Amino acid sequence: MRTVVIIPTYNERDALPVTLARVRAAVPDADVLVVDDGSPDGTGQLADRAAADDAGVHVLHRASKLGLGQAYVAGFTWALARGYEVVVEMDADGSHRAEDLPRLLAALPDADLVLGSRWVPGGRVVNWPTHRQLLSRGGNTYTRLMLGFPLRDATGGFRAYRAPLLASLDLGAVASHGYCFQVDMAWRVLRAGGRVVEVPITFVEREQGTSKMSREIVVEALVRITSWGVAFHARQTADAVRRLLGRAR
Ligand code: GDD
Ligand code: MN
Repeated sequence: MRTVVIIPTYNERDALPVTLARVRAAVPDADVLVVDDGSPDGTGQLADRAAADDAGVHVLHRASKLGLGQAYVAGFTWALARGYEVVVEMDADGSHRAEDLPRLLAALPDADLVLGSRWVPGGRVVNWPTHRQLLSRGGNTYTRLMLGFPLRDATGGFRAYRAPLLASLDLGAVASHGYCFQVDMAWRVLRAGGRVVEVPITFVEREQGTSKMSREIVVEALVRITSWGVAFHARQTADAVRRLLGRAR
């Protein structure tokens, strides 16, 4: 299956070369697309040099830091236009081990979306600060309650989509900017009738550079997930009432 691994970058100059080499070694048949948001540290130019040396590496430049979600929407659109059959999401900073990619891809025959999951049996995090673990676990529990789905790690960013399902979604309607994009997409896949499978991964905290997690990203996630949940529960209630009334008639 023609596969592309999309790697969004913002100031990942030190980490990106290592990640590119690991991905190319772990899945030599897969292409790579770096989506850089005009990183001030020159990550974009670094990616251009890698692309000049390696026909399997491609780069999409965006003018400024417009958010992880919109970087991925641009990357997905690029990949679908070029006929890739499998589209992978992966962080640039080494937290997602390229060596886990074959296992992720091996689960695709049974799924439309495979989630690399930290919070299923066999999943692990290494060196991740306690406050981030609590945020991730709490965020996932809240998401499960609000959206009524069983996914253990809907916020993670190491995943593989089958292109036809991705192409069936209205990507232009995805408004999420920050990391709630991951929940947004999993939720869209489920509502489209897609099958989602979770595969355990080991998430290793970055050793270079800094996280782009921010208060704005947390607030956006809280607001959006709550509003999706309220709308979902309102629909559920309306359906139940309609069924009851139908029965009473
Ligand atoms: N192009 C672009 N634009 N890339 C971005 C942006 C952006 O606005 N924001 C972040 N990135 C890139 C980073 O350069 C990195 O490659 C990747 O997205 C993840 O960003 P990190 O800042 O390293 O995220 P984290 O380690 O704190 O976040 C973890 O939690 C997120 C929310 O659950 C990871 O597990 C992510 O995969 C997850 O989405
Ligand atoms: Mn990270």
